Amino acid sequence: MAEQTELILAPIRGITDCSFRTLFQRHFPGFSSALAPFINPQRRSSFQEKQLRDVLPENNSALPVVPQLLHTDPEDFLFLAGRLQELGYREVNWNLGCPAPMVTKKQKGSGLLPFPEKILSFLDRVVPEIGIRLSIKTRLGYHDPRELLHLLPQLDQYPLSEIIIHGRLGSQMYRGETDREGFARCLQHSRHGIVYNGDITTQEIFSELQQQFPTVKRWMIGRGALADPFLAADIRGMEVTDRQQCLKSFHDELYSCYAELLDGPAHLLGRMKQLWVHLCAFFPPEQKTWKMIKKCRTKEKYQRVVESLFSQT
Ligand SMILES: Cc1cc2nc3c(=O)[nH]c(=O)nc-3n(C[C@H](O)[C@H](O)[C@H](O)COP(=O)(O)O)c2cc1C
Repeated sequence: MAEQTELILAPIRGITDCSFRTLFQRHFPGFSSALAPFINPQRRSSFQEKQLRDVLPENNSALPVVPQLLHTDPEDFLFLAGRLQELGYREVNWNLGCPAPMVTKKQKGSGLLPFPEKILSFLDRVVPEIGIRLSIKTRLGYHDPRELLHLLPQLDQYPLSEIIIHGRLGSQMYRGETDREGFARCLQHSRHGIVYNGDITTQEIFSELQQQFPTVKRWMIGRGALADPFLAADIRGMEVTDRQQCLKSFHDELYSCYAELLDGPAHLLGRMKQLWVHLCAFFPPEQKTWKMIKKCRTKEKYQRVVESLFSQT
C-alpha cells in the first residue's frame, strides 16, 4: 500500500466513543486518526461542558481525533468550534451526512443537502470567523445524487481541509450498495481533497477501490473495522499475531471500562450489544452468534456466552 495512504476510523455514534477509540488503537494498529461521533447540537445558551467529554484531549491521547458538529446555526457552530480551539483542536468537521429522520426533518445532517443556499450561507458566515480548519462529511445527497454534484463546485470557493463522501443518499439510510459511480462523479467536480467512505469491508474491496480511485489518499472505514478489527492492519500489511487473544483482551478491557462508566447492567449490556451487531461477523455463523448475544439479559449470562465464543474458534 502506498506510503501516503491513510486510514481514518469512521464515527459510529453509540460505539466509537473515546474509551472505544483508545482501546481500539491500543489493540488494533492501522488507523492514523479518527473522526469523533457528532456532538449533540445544543444552542449556545444550553451548552454544558460535559458535552465535550468525548473529545477532551486527555481522553484522546492514543489516536488523533477530529471532533464533529451537527449544528446548522452559524453562531452556535462558531461558539463550539471556539471551545474546541481552546482545547487545542486544529480542525472541526461539519456533519452533512446523518440520515436519522429525527435529524433530517430538522434540516440537519443529510437533511440539509436539498437546500444548497442554506449550506452556502452557513459557510459564508462560518468560514471567515472560524479560527481552525473546517472539513465536511457528507453523502451524495438526500433524495438525489445531483444534490452534492451541484453543490461541490460551489464549495471550491471555501478553504475546506477535505470533504469525506459516503456514497449513499440520506434517504437510503444504510440500504443498498455504495454508489461508486456517484462517488467517481463527485471526484471530478471538486478541487478539494476527497476522502472515500462506505462499505470497505475486506482487503480485496479496498484494493479494488484503490485501483478505481488512484487519486484518493485518505480512506474512512467504519462498520468494516467493527466486524473485523484487524482490517486496517491487513490493508497496511502489518503483521498481527494471536488475533483471538488480541480481540479477547480488547473486548474484556472495553467491558470493564464500560462496567465502571455506565450505570447498571442494562446500560452495560446495551452498549456491548451495539458493538456485537457488527462483531458477530467475526464469529460465524453470524446470525446464530447475534441471537445468542441478543438474548443475554444478565452480566453472568453475557460473560458465559462471550467465553464460549472465544473458546470455540
Ligand atoms: C450506528 C451508526 C452511527 C453513526 N454515527 C455517525 C456520526 O456520529 N457521524 C458521522 O459522520 N457518521 C456516522 N455514521 C456513519 C459512518 O461514519 C459511516 O459514514 C457509514 O457507516 C459508512 O461507512 P462504513 O460502511 O465504513 O461503515 C454512523 C453510522 C452508523 C451505522
